[in-house]
Amino acid sequence: MTDVSPLFRPFHIRGLELKNRIVMAPMTRARSPGAFPNDNNVAYYARRAAGEVGLILSEGTHTRRRGAGNDANVPLFWGEQALAGWKRVIDAVHAAGGKMGPQLWHQGMSRKPGTGHFPDAPSDGPSGIDLKGEKVASEPSEAEVLDMAQAYADAAGDAKRLGFDCVELHGAHGYLIDEFFWERTNQRTDRFGGSIEKRAEFAAEAIRRCRLAVGELPIIIRISQWKSGEFTAKVATTPQELERWVKVLVNAGVDAIHCSQRRILEPEFPAVDGPNGLNLAGWVKKLSGLPTISVGSVGLSSEFIGAFRGEGSSVGKLDEIIARLDRGEFDLVAVGRAVLQDPEWALKVKTGRQNELRDYDAKSLQTYF
Ligand SMILES: Cc1cc2nc3c(=O)[nH]c(=O)nc-3n(C[C@H](O)[C@H](O)[C@H](O)COP(=O)(O)O)c2cc1C
Repeated sequence: MTDVSPLFRPFHIRGLELKNRIVMAPMTRARSPGAFPNDNNVAYYARRAAGEVGLILSEGTHTRRRGAGNDANVPLFWGEQALAGWKRVIDAVHAAGGKMGPQLWHQGMSRKPGTGHFPDAPSDGPSGIDLKGEKVASEPSEAEVLDMAQAYADAAGDAKRLGFDCVELHGAHGYLIDEFFWERTNQRTDRFGGSIEKRAEFAAEAIRRCRLAVGELPIIIRISQWKSGEFTAKVATTPQELERWVKVLVNAGVDAIHCSQRRILEPEFPAVDGPNGLNLAGWVKKLSGLPTISVGSVGLSSEFIGAFRGEGSSVGKLDEIIARLDRGEFDLVAVGRAVLQDPEWALKVKTGRQNELRDYDAKSLQTYF
């Protein structure tokens, strides 16, 4: 029987005490008609809190930029009705003993024009360049870029006012912040483009503005090397570049970095430390000195993109992941599909009921429990 105790040791990010190392990964559900969290959304999160998840990160929820999203069923994180819904979510999560932060999401140029809550609004991006590298719109002015950064801070301030425990900026997967990180989509020649430090400056600007809005509330940023549909893309091709990238985030005052991989055990720089080398969260922790969250196929045998093609995944082993956590390679482990399917996943692992864990069934995407 695997010793799961390292997963259930407390941890803290800044002043936030977490009862264990299990994080619910942010997962878009697009089940908020009207763009505000409803009774089903409240119960969905409360169930995961009752199921012993240490920290819940919400599905991506949009900032006030009108072109932030492409699906009108994704909840917003601004406006009276949406914030009232989110207040009910956090109160229910707290009542069930959980901790939670919203994931603040702006899709950038990944959003197709003509879609989302405000179909007429233009999509925002660093240079008007889409993920394929095609110039499809004009480059925004510096004032517009600063407003995009402020939009995260406005949402973060609201998160604090509502009583959330932290905020996460979605800086991964080819969305707005990641489009600033990535050379292909960022061709700016001002302080937001050029070297890797300058490409990280938009994230730094957003983090600094969030800090002014939230005071001591922990700020997490999620980053990834890969982009949607571009799984071999890399922002940093060497540990040296990665260090330059994350140092900008550290200096801006971020409290933790969530490193998105599709497979948690994949080494980030195998040419440097071999086939069993550190994963992205391991490298980022080593180079930044900050707590990191790792993620990707935890408790399952295959990665998540297949879920959108209707593919299931069988139950996978936790031993190696727990061993790495125990060695301090990373500090927290985010779990996506396994917790989506089974709100009691963490509780079952904790109480030795691993034999009750079921293979992931892609039909879980269609239900909302
Ligand atoms: C249905 C679904 C929706 C997702 N939505 C988001 C999202 O809103 N924000 C985000 O950063 N990642 C999103 N992801 C990625 C997950 O956070 C996670 O990184 C991924 O599922 C890998 O974890 P897993 O293998 O445990 O499922 C989503 C994944 C799934 C399956």
